[in-house]
Amino acid sequence: MKGVILAGGLGTRLFPLTKITNKHLLPVYDKPMIYYPIQAMVNAGIDDIMIVTGGRKSGDFLSLLGNGKDFGLKHLNYTYQEGEGGIAEALDLAQHWVGKDQVCVILGDNIIQYNVAKAVRDFSRQERGAKIMLKEVHDPKRFGVAELSGSRVVSITEKPKEPKSNLAVIGIYLFDNRVFHVIKTLERSERGELEITDVNNWYIRDGSMTYEVLPGWWTDAGTFESLHRASCLIAEGGANRMDSPKAP
Ligand code: G1P
Repeated sequence: MKGVILAGGLGTRLFPLTKITNKHLLPVYDKPMIYYPIQAMVNAGIDDIMIVTGGRKSGDFLSLLGNGKDFGLKHLNYTYQEGEGGIAEALDLAQHWVGKDQVCVILGDNIIQYNVAKAVRDFSRQERGAKIMLKEVHDPKRFGVAELSGSRVVSITEKPKEPKSNLAVIGIYLFDNRVFHVIKTLERSERGELEITDVNNWYIRDGSMTYEVLPGWWTDAGTFESLHRASCLIAEGGANRMDSPKAP
């Protein structure tokens, strides 16, 4: 399975911190933000990784990460996103490299307490379709929100005014190779982006979407509040732990 980490965008919600640098290079407690999704990918058993970057200071990713030695990697792949076309458009830039494989996508500002190794293993045995990870949150209006019926996800709404649940779709996605055909069928949303939520709803309609509820904490780090929260959570007990949460 290939791994794609999305680290483009202008990070406007973090202005002026992102006025001269890329959001994913900002510090989160004791590391640059991009270290956390790379470690999450490696912990999930994926070592063939491409970073999609763009915007300000994109060249700094190479100086910072090189070939990924800090993560035990021999090589890292990079590609460049022009403008801010959204998550699905950024993923599309990796098509030539993903080839016929399955792909795990992690948003560069998403940080998890434990690991997704089991979900990735389960998905690699899933013949076709996609898998998303859900997490209960107190502010669902900020995210893609899943509606469940029994054991199935029946819809996802991007930043709903009236959320149908408090289950956010976190920024770790697993797709079969059809994802690139799906992206080609998308139309831009009101915010001018190709939405990953539209890709996920295609798989729901196809009847091939599965999900897991993530154990431990999850946060993004793209707003002042969540960036601060991410640093505090990491300072308290670390991110990307390889043990399992203790039963309550
Ligand atoms: C994006 C996705 C959203 C998801 C979130 C997770 O939101 O569009 O569905 O819940 O990442 O971090 P954005 O950060 O683009 O607002």
